[in-house]
Amino acid sequence: MFDIENIDSKNKREFYIRLNKYLAGLIREETDWLAGISNASALLYMLMTDINWAGFYLHKGGQLVLGPFQGKPACAYIAVGKGVCGTAAGTREIQVVEDVSKFPGHIACDARSQSEIVVPIIKSGRLIGVLDIDSPFKGRFDRADADGLKYFIDILNQHIAWPEEFV
Ligand code: SME
Repeated sequence: MFDIENIDSKNKREFYIRLNKYLAGLIREETDWLAGISNASALLYMLMTDINWAGFYLHKGGQLVLGPFQGKPACAYIAVGKGVCGTAAGTREIQVVEDVSKFPGHIACDARSQSEIVVPIIKSGRLIGVLDIDSPFKGRFDRADADGLKYFIDILNQHIAWPEEFV
């Protein structure tokens, strides 16, 4: 099955090059979008250090609905514009939050979460959803994570045929 070695997570640039290679290998021949992003969330949760939640919210019926994830059960619905996820969806910009307690309107699904990164998924101008990752440590995410995860989403977008319902 899927063979993986430990990746050095200290060098973030190197980490994301390896992570993204694994992702491409994992989904290259995947034709089912749900299987693809389920494995993508498992890959993130398995390889990223110092995180407590990794997964997707999908844009359905004008709001964000919980998709495949790893971690504790989370809020199922988030309005666009609300919380960190809704802000990323509304602005279509990556949100890197060093301290969630200072983010106005942050939605606390897991009380352990202290910092967070949310990357919007946009394909052909359509908002598909967001990738959300939480950490139990303040300041876990920075520009290097934003760049590496943006590339992670680019790879997903290249390989995944998103269904029409995500608009
Ligand atoms: N903290 C997020 C909600 C989702 S959970 O972190 C999984 C937010 O403020 O949008």
